[in-house]
Amino acid sequence: MNKSKIGIIGLGTVGSGVFKTLKSFPEIEIVKIAVNNINKPRNIEGLDKALLTDNAQEIVTNPDIDIVVEVMGGVNPAFDLIKTALENGKHIVTANKEILAKHGQELFSLAEKHNKVILYEAAIAGGIPLIMPIKTILAGNRITKINAILNGTTNYILTKMDTDGVSYEDVLKEAQELGYAETDPTGDVEGFDAAYKITTLATIAFGKRVKYENVYREGITKIRKEDMAKANELGYKIKLIASAKIDENNNADVRVHPMLVLKNASLAHINYVTNAVEITGNPVGTVVLSGAGAGEFPTASSVVGDILAINSEIDKNSSILPMMHCKHDLDATPVNIDDTFNKYYISITAPNAIGVIAMIGTICANKNISLSSILQKEVFENKTADITVITERCQEKLIKEVVEELKDCTVNSIIRVAD
Ligand code: HSE
Repeated sequence: MNKSKIGIIGLGTVGSGVFKTLKSFPEIEIVKIAVNNINKPRNIEGLDKALLTDNAQEIVTNPDIDIVVEVMGGVNPAFDLIKTALENGKHIVTANKEILAKHGQELFSLAEKHNKVILYEAAIAGGIPLIMPIKTILAGNRITKINAILNGTTNYILTKMDTDGVSYEDVLKEAQELGYAETDPTGDVEGFDAAYKITTLATIAFGKRVKYENVYREGITKIRKEDMAKANELGYKIKLIASAKIDENNNADVRVHPMLVLKNASLAHINYVTNAVEITGNPVGTVVLSGAGAGEFPTASSVVGDILAINSEIDKNSSILPMMHCKHDLDATPVNIDDTFNKYYISITAPNAIGVIAMIGTICANKNISLSSILQKEVFENKTADITVITERCQEKLIKEVVEELKDCTVNSIIRVAD
């Protein structure tokens, strides 16, 4: 049995889960764990304080260590630590989606140069096996489409808004009180977290590098409880969807934004903090993987799997785990959101005047936009009417022009609708 020595950088939720899980694997010896504060009380059974250091350099330069496990998060100083570790001949296991999205190209090139691997199963959708299956079992496919729920916090908020009929602000407050959402929730609710994850996922699945700066991103903060209710009435749920599509000419449309998804679609049934990824490829068709996208033990499951994968291959080949290398010579060509084609849900508060619906219809018709539903239930005493429209597929830039022309109305929300 191969034995590997590892150093862990970070002993928060994920690091603790990794430490506890590794107790069952005598082939992995933890040599050092880097933490911010050695004296912080920690309730981790079997943790010998002598393992701790507050100097992560001791890990990344330690000649005894084979694998560096980076579970501290954030770009700095993790990025420099990973680089130094690679330069010192370590393999890397990381859960750091932000670094992979922003600096993946540089790190994977450095890993190639030093004939080392960076494994990151935990970085995308926590405990769901995703990267390894794409690189191995699905390797015979041309993957052309991914639709996914990659952020548990936002899925929790949208699920609660839907089931309890309450506002975004109210659910966020409750989620923060319960510890489900961060005190500063920006990274989750504005879609950054999901955008980091879909950047790397699309790159792996398409075999072409997708750049984070080309990923279109919108969060969930503008979703109103009225939109939830209306979507339900029309047969949909609202979800924060991370999507990626590539065509035969290498044009990649990669984005994160809220979407109306039909109630019978698989992603509509993914609730609370659960994540799910729907992958479409040829010849496999469509497969859906779902499970816990975060949390101590689901994330540890993926980190430990990566450590064991490297351990089982170490010293066997001159180039270990060949399928795990991550080398993309070609960049995908980004598609601008204005050039994409989508269906749209548009909520409009219009003056209650004769011909208002005809006016909306005419503005759309003049741009060759066909309407698939139009809903107005009543008019209000303040002489306004709420009108909800769902369009057929049309170009995004034309929808922006429609909104400009609806100047006598208030456009409350525009949300894209899944095909
Ligand atoms: N904050 C993320 C989420 C988990 O809410 O899903 C870590 O990526």
